[in-house]
Amino acid sequence: MRLSGKRALITGAARGIGRAFAEKYISEGAQVVIGDIDLARAEDTAAEIGATALPLDVTDPASIEDALAALRASGGIDILINNAAIFTAAPLIEITRQDYERAFKINVEGTLFMMQAAAREMIAQGRGGKIINMASQAGRRGEALVAVYCASKAAVISLTQSAGLNLIEHGINVNAIAPGVVDGEHWDGVDAFFAKYEGKAPGQKKREVGAAVPFGRMGTPQDLTGMAVFLASDEAEYIVAQTYNVDGGNWMS
Ligand SMILES: NC(=O)c1ccc[n+]([C@@H]2O[C@H](COP(=O)([O-])OP(=O)(O)OC[C@H]3O[C@@H](n4cnc5c(N)ncnc54)[C@H](O)[C@@H]3O)[C@@H](O)[C@H]2O)c1
Repeated sequence: MRLSGKRALITGAARGIGRAFAEKYISEGAQVVIGDIDLARAEDTAAEIGATALPLDVTDPASIEDALAALRASGGIDILINNAAIFTAAPLIEITRQDYERAFKINVEGTLFMMQAAAREMIAQGRGGKIINMASQAGRRGEALVAVYCASKAAVISLTQSAGLNLIEHGINVNAIAPGVVDGEHWDGVDAFFAKYEGKAPGQKKREVGAAVPFGRMGTPQDLTGMAVFLASDEAEYIVAQTYNVDGGNWMS
C-alpha cells in the first residue's frame, strides 16, 4: 500500500495505459479520479475498477478548472499523471497544420496546463505532490513518418525538466515515463498508420516492432505500472525532472 491515502488524477485513463495505472494505484491504496474526454468509457472503467470519473478535456481551460475544483471539493490532489495524448503519423510533405495543431494541443499544451493547474492546487494545499508525465521513446529521437508525435513527446521531456526544476521548491516532484511500444487500442491505430504509409498488411508493423524489442515482445500497460507507483511514492522524493525509459531495452539514455 505504497500510495495509501493519496488522491490521484489520471488523465486519459478510460482505457489503455492510464486504466492500468488507475487499477494499480487503487491496489496500492490511492483514491483515483479518471479524467477523460470520453466520459461514457471513463464512467464504465471507473465503475469496474472502483475509481471516480470526471469529464475532462485537457485542451480546455474551463474543463481543467472544473476538474480541479471537483477534486478540491472532495479532498484535494496529491498525484497527477498526464497520460492523455494522441498519435499521428504522415510523411513530412503530407503533414497538415490541423494534425500538427491537434497533436500539440493535446500532447503538449494539455500537459503544460494540467501541470500548472495541479501545481497551483498542490502549492495551496501545502503538502507537496507528484506529477508524472507520459513521454515516449518517440521523444528521444526522430522517426521518418512520425515528426509531429515525436516532437510533441520531446516537448513533454523538456517540459518535465523545466517544471521539475521549478516545482521542487514546493515539494512537488515532476518526472516522466518514456514507454516503448505498448500493446492496446492506441497501437492498433498506430499500426493502421503504418499499413497506410509503408504498405504493410494490418498487424504486420505491430508484429515487427514487437519482435525488435530486446526483451522479446511488445510491452503491456501492466509493464509500466511499477514505475508509475514508484515515482508517485515517498521513495521517489529525491528524483527530480527525470524521464525514465520503460521499454524492454529499446532505447538507452
Ligand atoms: N501505447 C504505446 O505504444 C505508447 C508508447 C509510448 C508512449 N505512450 C503514451 O502513453 C500514454 C497512454 O497511451 P495509450 O496507449 O494508453 O493511449 P490510448 O489512446 O489508448 O488512450 C488515450 C486516452 O486519452 C483520452 N484523451 C484523448 N484526448 C483527450 C483530451 N483532449 N482530454 C482528455 N482525455 C483525452 C482518450 O479518450 C483515451 O482514453 C499516451 O501519452 C501515449 O502517448 C504510449
